[in-house]
Amino acid sequence: MKKINIGLIGLGVIGRGVLRILSQKRKFFKKRYNVDFNIAKVCDKNPKLRKKLNLSPKIFTTKFQEVINNDNINVVIELIGGINPARDIVLRSLNSGKSVITANKALLAQDLLSILKVASRNKSRIRFEASVCGGIPIIKSLREGLSADRIDSLIGIINGTSNYILSKMTGEGCSFFEALLEAKKRGFAERNPSLDIKGFDSAHKLSILAFLAFGKHVLQKDIFVKGIDEISPLDIKYARELGLVIKLLAIAKKSNKNVLEVRVHPTLISEDHLLASVGGVFNAVYVKGELVDDLLFFGKGAGQLPTVSAILSDLIDLSYEKKSIDLFQKGLIKKIKKIDDIRSKYYIRFMVIDKPGVLAKISGILARRKISIASVTQKERQRAKIVPVVMLTHDVRGRDIRVALEEIDRLAIIKKKTVVIHREEL
Ligand code: HSE
Repeated sequence: MKKINIGLIGLGVIGRGVLRILSQKRKFFKKRYNVDFNIAKVCDKNPKLRKKLNLSPKIFTTKFQEVINNDNINVVIELIGGINPARDIVLRSLNSGKSVITANKALLAQDLLSILKVASRNKSRIRFEASVCGGIPIIKSLREGLSADRIDSLIGIINGTSNYILSKMTGEGCSFFEALLEAKKRGFAERNPSLDIKGFDSAHKLSILAFLAFGKHVLQKDIFVKGIDEISPLDIKYARELGLVIKLLAIAKKSNKNVLEVRVHPTLISEDHLLASVGGVFNAVYVKGELVDDLLFFGKGAGQLPTVSAILSDLIDLSYEKKSIDLFQKGLIKKIKKIDDIRSKYYIRFMVIDKPGVLAKISGILARRKISIASVTQKERQRAKIVPVVMLTHDVRGRDIRVALEEIDRLAIIKKKTVVIHREEL
């Protein structure tokens, strides 16, 4: 029977889950796959964990060098997150011919290409199913299941924390901060939750997915990113009145053969679309392929057991002698479209003084920028003489809406910064 010696680095919630489930399933894996997964070394910088987790001093270390320099270890599982020293761990392991499993989305989003080059130069392998959407096997699906297809668009709800917050605000009418507090308590927010709510966690994951789907590594600087921290209960309510819901969407889609749009932002979608019913901490990825047509992947995008499932599936994948499709199709994408050049529909909420001529002023500026209005509703007065006016636009260019709103927000009739949210007809 083949034996695989594993070095596990990082004993957070996921690392501990790997230890526990691997020991529970070791016999089952032996029987089913004829391979013995042996935890040879475990590393965490917190020395107290050795006793707490009842680990033998022979296998526990606080120094990652003892894992990556150990010639007996075949697979290194990196679960510490962040860029440093994770990058060092991943690169040095690959350089010494070890296989690597990582869940590190921030590192991959930044250094995917150089990591793959090191792997290929050393004929070593890297797997990262757990880096995107926890338990949903989206990476394997894109890499293998859809290897014959041409993907035209990929649209996902890929941050559980933001989706949880928006769902709670929509369903229970609670405030952004109440919902965030609850997400933190439940443990699916990042250690730094601004990564979740400002959209960067989604952007990291989208960079990885876009690479798999389109063969183009898109750096964070080329992804338009806007989070959910400015979404107010008022906009959620007005959206509902229009039959729309707000979701934080990560979007990668082709504008034509060589041009890709890659963006993360709150988006209004029809309440009838399947993505609208993805609630709470769940994730979903909606893919359109040339041959396969529409696909929807749905499941738990965070949490100990779903993420462990993804990591162990990578382990099993690496245990096969056969070379699985070793990444990745070369894409045709030559250009990433800037948000200013992307055409989209928008929801706009102005807070204006309620007096004659106000709408004429606003619509005059919009008209000069060739922004065509699809509908306008004046809502109930808030306080003093201030009223919200909600507009939906037809497709307009990003630059036009940006410049028009900058001009409108300088008018004396505008009493608060105008809110603007993308709208997609999926
Ligand atoms: N903070 C992440 C989320 C965890 O909320 O989706 C999984 O990557």
